[in-house]
Amino acid sequence: EQGLSVPELAQKLAVNDAEIIKTLFMKGIVTTVNQTLDEETIKLVCQEFNVEVLTSGSVKVEDMVKKTEILDEEDLESLETRPPVVTIMGHVDHGKTSLLDFIRKSKVAASEAGGITQGIGAYKVSVMVDGAKQSCVFLDTPGHEAFTAMRARGAQVTDVAVIVVAADDGVKPQTQEAIAHARAASVPIVVAINKIDKEGAERERVMQELSGIGLMPEDWGGDVPMIPVSALKGENVDSLLETIMLVAEFQELKANPNRSAKGTVIESCLDKTKGVLATLLVQNGTLRKGDVVLCGEAYGKIRALLDDTGTRVETAGPSTAVQVFGLSSVPIAGEMFEVLDSLEAAREQAEICAETSRLARLAAQAAEGKVTLASFT
Ligand code: GTP
Ligand code: MG
Repeated sequence: EQGLSVPELAQKLAVNDAEIIKTLFMKGIVTTVNQTLDEETIKLVCQEFNVEVLTSGSVKVEDMVKKTEILDEEDLESLETRPPVVTIMGHVDHGKTSLLDFIRKSKVAASEAGGITQGIGAYKVSVMVDGAKQSCVFLDTPGHEAFTAMRARGAQVTDVAVIVVAADDGVKPQTQEAIAHARAASVPIVVAINKIDKEGAERERVMQELSGIGLMPEDWGGDVPMIPVSALKGENVDSLLETIMLVAEFQELKANPNRSAKGTVIESCLDKTKGVLATLLVQNGTLRKGDVVLCGEAYGKIRALLDDTGTRVETAGPSTAVQVFGLSSVPIAGEMFEVLDSLEAAREQAEICAETSRLARLAAQAAEGKVTLASFT
């Protein structure tokens, strides 16, 4: 069977349904969520998202290569090494937060509502590699099924995906989903076989299950490092970190700190007393207090930046996540942000974006017969 529904394509591209509908609307094609998109239409959308469809016929996740470039041509002369951004993914309760907790030597899980990770937290940690201190940014993605879309975005901003699999539970649907997302984004995978301290832990079985879905362990001659760990006891976590840094180093990650910032919105919310809060991951350039930021329909002059420890900072360079204050409205998590020269220019662009979204929404509703075309005026 050929073609994909809007939600299917959205998931493969790690965007939301509305973004697909909006993209097509901009090209003069009115679609509803329930419609099946043919290959030509899929290619049209993929082009907009800088994703190449590698094979014709049935379109698979693995067939798509994300090509969005965060670096511009002008950056090439002033590139500097940047820390890797690592995402921890995996099935519910397999130990993602515990692993990150141990890495950060802190206790995030205890303070979380219901023990479930609610947003994407971003933390910079120091790792000793060959006696030298190097840094690394971890994104803790939520494990609950309801957060699938958010997790999909995690793989997009990330340089290395750590897939946590509990050795007493094995490969689960969300493990497979996480692997699919990492593959779709062409992100190298490191597997952490967790809970090896537990009775009933079967490391070999996990490796077997993973090789069954195309992840061949390095130990068996494949190319995927699989490190047995205990997040609870901290056992072998050093070795996991070393492996992550090695995989990252191989990619020669670089950015140009001497330009205006560009990156992705990691999470956002409206705080009753503080107003709009957004966590931005700077992927290229340097973000400064006072910069005018545009992210989709939201824009504003950045009044303050807080780092992952809640400390006020003046600037944030490549591979740094900061919470910012000063945006006009709550930006969508996963949206790209950029710095513009003036507040006026940002407002103009934000308004264009808002208007396009409004029209696309109306177009979709009109196609479903919910509103008449008269609502467009
Ligand atoms: P979600 O965010 O809800 O998806 O879960 P998570 O993957 O972040 O799992 P979390 O770290 O919250 O751990 C789930 C449970 O497994 C907790 O009770 C942890 O104490 C336990 N756990 C995590 N790692 C280990 C481990 O290495 N060994 C043992 N014995 N228990 C572990
Ligand atoms: Mg968690």
